[in-house]
Amino acid sequence: MPLFRRRPRIVTDSVSDRRFFVFGGRRHLAALPYPLPKDLAEINRLDFQHYLLRTGLRGNYAAPLQNPTSILDVGCGSSRWALEVASIFPSANVVGLDLVPPAVSDAQLLGNGLERRPDNYSFTAGNILEGLPFADRSFDFVHQRLLITAIPKERWPYVVQELVRVTRPGGWVELAECGVPEDGGPGYTGLWNTWIQFCAKRGVDFTIGHTTADMLRAGGMSHASRHMLRFPMGAHGGHVGRMSATDCLAVGSALRAGVIGQNIMSAEEYDRLYALAQSEFADPRGKGVLPFYVSYGQRLA
Ligand SMILES: C[S@@+](CC[C@H](N)C(=O)[O-])C[C@H]1O[C@@H](n2cnc3c(N)ncnc32)[C@H](O)[C@@H]1O
Repeated sequence: MPLFRRRPRIVTDSVSDRRFFVFGGRRHLAALPYPLPKDLAEINRLDFQHYLLRTGLRGNYAAPLQNPTSILDVGCGSSRWALEVASIFPSANVVGLDLVPPAVSDAQLLGNGLERRPDNYSFTAGNILEGLPFADRSFDFVHQRLLITAIPKERWPYVVQELVRVTRPGGWVELAECGVPEDGGPGYTGLWNTWIQFCAKRGVDFTIGHTTADMLRAGGMSHASRHMLRFPMGAHGGHVGRMSATDCLAVGSALRAGVIGQNIMSAEEYDRLYALAQSEFADPRGKGVLPFYVSYGQRLA
């Protein structure tokens, strides 16, 4: 009997894998508008952000669901949302869709057992910009959160059409997206503006989060409604404010190389704005907020 068990082999995605490229020291998905990294640090940020959103929203969804039997999460990221919803609705089949599977190898790094998934959860690879790999009317609830930087502005009608197509009559589609900073200082606001410019260069409008209910209506959904929350950014917002600021600064680090690489701003100027945002967030007299919009609508026929 060996004293030590052999450590599990950790299968990491090779950097020579053509789906990825390394830029600014972070692994990214290749050939897509989506600008954020796809690596372990980003999985951790998405999980952190998930807990922040769940706290702020006081739950994982807003639509008036009644015992859904099939649920789809488009752009599921770390799958944290889908895994929790699979526990909330144990008799529902919950499918997480993303371009690449959540890295089981990364979960192995975090500890034994984290790669286990509930039996009613499964992952499907897919690209929402190329259509969903599901039959018409497959799901009671279709959820999509924070894909605003992944979808070029002119592709939104097609994306909503796909979400509606796979929803059953009587089912719901829910979109959750952030807005743009309000009442922030020059650091927070200035930093965010560089991300708006960076996204624009990729055909993405990072300012349209407030229009998601209109998009659902345009896609034929009934009873479409929009709910807005204002996340305080920084010390003035207590625990949630500090979490929101931490998340925002993590995004700032993740997008730094892209903003500089696109000549939107020099490294020195970006770092100056970043440091300014840090001090604004630390100031309890700060007032910055980030609106967050949750919209849902029902497919009637
Ligand atoms: C900001 S993360 C949000 C993840 C998750 N929805 C959440 O709220 O935690 C965006 C996710 O969308 C995925 N994504 C980007 N472009 C996509 C596409 N064209 N089709 C499917 N997923 C995409 C990314 O891989 C990433 O996991």
